[in-house]
Amino acid sequence: MTKRALITGITGQDGSYLAELLLAKGYEVHGLIRRASTFNTGRIDHLFVDPHEANARLFLHYGDLSDGARLVTLMAQIDPDEVYNLAAQSHVRVSFDEPEHTADTTGTGTVRLLEAVRLSGVRTRYYQASSSELYGSTPPPQSETTPFHPRSPYAAAKLYSYWITKNYREAYGLFAVNGILFNHESPRRGETFVTRKITRAVARIKAGIQSELYLGNLDAVRDWGYAPEYVLGMWQMLQADEPDDYVLATGTGYTIRDFLDVSFGHVGLDWNEFVRFDERYLRPSEVDALIGDPSKARERLGWEPTVDGAALARIMVDADVSALEAGTAHWVDSPQSAPWAEALR
Ligand code: NAP
Ligand code: GDD
Repeated sequence: MTKRALITGITGQDGSYLAELLLAKGYEVHGLIRRASTFNTGRIDHLFVDPHEANARLFLHYGDLSDGARLVTLMAQIDPDEVYNLAAQSHVRVSFDEPEHTADTTGTGTVRLLEAVRLSGVRTRYYQASSSELYGSTPPPQSETTPFHPRSPYAAAKLYSYWITKNYREAYGLFAVNGILFNHESPRRGETFVTRKITRAVARIKAGIQSELYLGNLDAVRDWGYAPEYVLGMWQMLQADEPDDYVLATGTGYTIRDFLDVSFGHVGLDWNEFVRFDERYLRPSEVDALIGDPSKARERLGWEPTVDGAALARIMVDADVSALEAGTAHWVDSPQSAPWAEALR
């Protein structure tokens, strides 16, 4: 029997890799997509097969986590074996600008989707995209038993989603899991997250079309892994015998300065000559250090990351340099397009 999966956030970084993975495993994949005045399918365009063709296995449906009735209808129509809730307003700094919207999508959106599962009566397994941001100011190393202390509207909304997912597991016996994922990046990473902002700038500076890069706090420590390896972990969590919560991380921390060193150094440049400070990129309350302990996922799921932060920086710089040289759009945008990426948070 062909398995069916529903992915919210399919147009995002993780959604695109997860769709690839599930299609490769023979799944029929359904994705929730927001209606926009311009197409937002850049990360999944390479997966397109005309739905009129008999071999089509990827289907998109308009919907939004703010629209509970639509989620119930879709859930009943699709009747998925697995639901992956990846949709969110996922930018921590932006959550300080839009706290209410972030609560509505990143927090309440989760219970709307869980209610859609319950009310439609489908028998499905459910994955919730939880985050290392939950740990906030609790010092590393962080594991499944480390206390949470969220430091942003985004993290507070994710904390609600974490607990409501656990509650549906305990109250209704739903096979529901939280993946507590530490930062994971790729050439498809959104252009305003710090890693992609840096690697995109490296390509542009190297090509002579950018001269400065404005950043905020360079001292924060993050545990950066490679997104395709993390979506495999999501799938593994839903194949386990029992529902449980797992940390996915590499176990190694790097500062933003370290990431700058490797990224600029990879093309023979010194970042000190180009990086400037802009306080608009600071957060009202910062998360200083996140370094995960992925032992449980390694032991129980056999999940093993192979790409560390330095290797990741080189992968991302190479991708941005190639895209610029080819002059073609790379996934969502190429480094020569999206001028607002440099100006927005
Ligand atoms: P992303 O690239 O920002 O993608 C977010 C996705 O959510 C996009 O498809 C977006 O649609 C969709 N979305 C946003 N608001 C929505 C709404 N109201 N209704 C329906 N869809 C909506 O995020 P990501 O990096 O792939 O991360 C995936 C998930 O994991 C997120 O929940 C994120 O918070 C969480 N997470 C990420 C990391 C990480 O390091 N990447 C770590 C831990 C947890 P558009 O394309 O239309 O904007
Ligand atoms: N975005 C951004 N832009 N961050 C900057 C900048 C800048 O110009 N300058 C310094 N930083 C610092 C931030 O202050 C933060 O400490 C660090 O770089 C990482 O910022 P982001 O790349 O925006 O990621 P994040 O760690 O806040 O959040 C990401 O990871 C979480 C998991 O830990 C997101 O993907 C979240 O959705 C995810 O939950």
